[in-house]
Amino acid sequence: MSVLKVRGLNKNFGGLKAVSDVNITVNQGELLGLIGPNGAGKTTIFNLLTGVYVPTTGTVRLKDVDGNKININGMKPHITARHGISRTFQNIRLFKNLSVVDNLKIGMHKNIRHSIFEAILRLPRFIRDEKMFEQQAMYILSLVGLQDKHAEFAMNLPYGEQRKLEIARAIATGASVIFLDEPAAGMNPSETEDLSKLIVKLKDEFHLTVILIEHDMKFVMNLCERIYVLDFGSIIAEGLPAEIQSNKRVIEAYLGEQVE
Ligand SMILES: Nc1ncnc2c1ncn2[C@@H]1O[C@H](COP(=O)(O)OP(=O)(O)OP(=O)(O)O)[C@@H](O)[C@H]1O
Ligand SMILES: [Mg+2]
Repeated sequence: MSVLKVRGLNKNFGGLKAVSDVNITVNQGELLGLIGPNGAGKTTIFNLLTGVYVPTTGTVRLKDVDGNKININGMKPHITARHGISRTFQNIRLFKNLSVVDNLKIGMHKNIRHSIFEAILRLPRFIRDEKMFEQQAMYILSLVGLQDKHAEFAMNLPYGEQRKLEIARAIATGASVIFLDEPAAGMNPSETEDLSKLIVKLKDEFHLTVILIEHDMKFVMNLCERIYVLDFGSIIAEGLPAEIQSNKRVIEAYLGEQVE
């Protein structure tokens, strides 16, 4: 059963075809990899699927949390978020001057039930919501191993923990489809291994569908169930990790990059 269907997706930046006639089907609950050389268009695809960019042409159909099929192409990020899409960024984007736990709570505001009026007067529903958000946030922090750091400023966390916090925040929004843009970037092998386990744990715990971009091939091949390969804006291969590793076009695309 598919949760996301991308058909005929194109994105031009002036004369540059960054994404060219891309078709992707994401199955519910799968851990999907999107790989390709630098500049292939991977992040642009994430931006198109999460509402940061409007496609030049093409459609993105999402089966949302309520099971409704909706076209999300052209929707703004805060709207795609309401439909259960969340992401992390290639360059970490946290609220550096907020505490770890507040970074999570801020992502939960779309689930708010109290009004501003109730918040100002600190009426029971506001206090109840606050308590619930706090508990949920602390639970997610415990899963990623950051519960002891809940009161720290986000900027004081080491790099690897900031990456984890970003993932925790994406999950705290209540999303069912999570996009991770190079979650292992800048991590050493043991941190990368930890992250692999964490992603599987979170995916199972929250019944997530996960789509991730990553350059670390060992990480991708061990973690992902299925992989799409992008080169110069086009999908050049799709398949199981073993199939991708032995695919001629994929090898050529990567060798081409090395020679340059
Ligand atoms: N906002 C933009 N305006 C103009 N060109 C852009 C814009 N965003 C991306 N591009 C171009 O589109 C192409 C694809 O970029 P993109 O960032 O999607 O690649 P990528 O596969 O994520 O690469 P990397 O692995 O280096 O992160 C590149 O040539 C890039 O310069
Ligand atoms: Mg990128």
